[in-house]
Amino acid sequence: MVVVRYVGHLFPNFIANFVVLNGSHLKDRSRLAGRTWAAVAPLRLGCYVTGVVLALLTISGCHSDMYDQPRYEPAEKTEFFDDQRTMRPVVANTIARGQLREDDAYFTGKVSDAFVSELPAQVKLSETLLARGQERFNIYCSNCHDRVGTGNGMIVQRGFPRPPTYHSDRLRGMPVGYFFEVMTHGYGTMYPFNNQVSVADRWAIAAYIRALQLSQHATLDEISSSERTELEGAKQ
Ligand code: HEC
Repeated sequence: MVVVRYVGHLFPNFIANFVVLNGSHLKDRSRLAGRTWAAVAPLRLGCYVTGVVLALLTISGCHSDMYDQPRYEPAEKTEFFDDQRTMRPVVANTIARGQLREDDAYFTGKVSDAFVSELPAQVKLSETLLARGQERFNIYCSNCHDRVGTGNGMIVQRGFPRPPTYHSDRLRGMPVGYFFEVMTHGYGTMYPFNNQVSVADRWAIAAYIRALQLSQHATLDEISSSERTELEGAKQ
């Protein structure tokens, strides 16, 4: 290795000189400075070794290849674009693969600006859907709305503004798409959930809220006569 030898030759003398002349850590500097080179031979040897090691380290660490490429921090300013944004906005009228959201009823809960009153076609009402809705509701909503939806969740008990109960004529009368909308965009002091709860789960929760409303507002006429007899029996 030509380079190593060359650097190795240069360094030891330089370092030895440096250490001897500037060695403030050596107690008696004047004594050392006055000596011949032979007297500091061990020091020279040490410096030789150090020089070689340093040279090897330098050479082996020299291939930065693609490590240090020019780059921008997130949201950094640039003069390159007119609007000075390094984070480029999405090109108008382009849609990423798999993100085409043509179905208004499913993705917005509205059809021509009116809330849908039925679940969208691809949301199948089933026990599984309601179970999923219940689980998600208990995780994301019950902390404020409580598990029955009367608006007395733990956060409210600790001072957060109290949400209205779901069991009012007004909210019972709201179309199911409205609940999807409230989750998607938030409502008053309630923040939106579109980032935390997926579209499919928002529908599951909306369906579950309907079940909750029914659970507190069902009449005896709505159940079969056999179930009614069973209930009457349980009462006694
Ligand atoms: C941090 C507390 C909090 C959480 C969590 C929360 N809400 Fe609310 N919600 C509120 C408050 C407060 C209001 C009343 C807001 C207002 O009137 O300004 C509200 C209002 C509502 C309303 C009634 C809107 C109306 O027309 O009066 C619905 C429906 C609703 N929330 C659904 C949900 C659902 C579904 C979730 C879970 C995905 C949820 N909320 C999670 C606090 C919360």
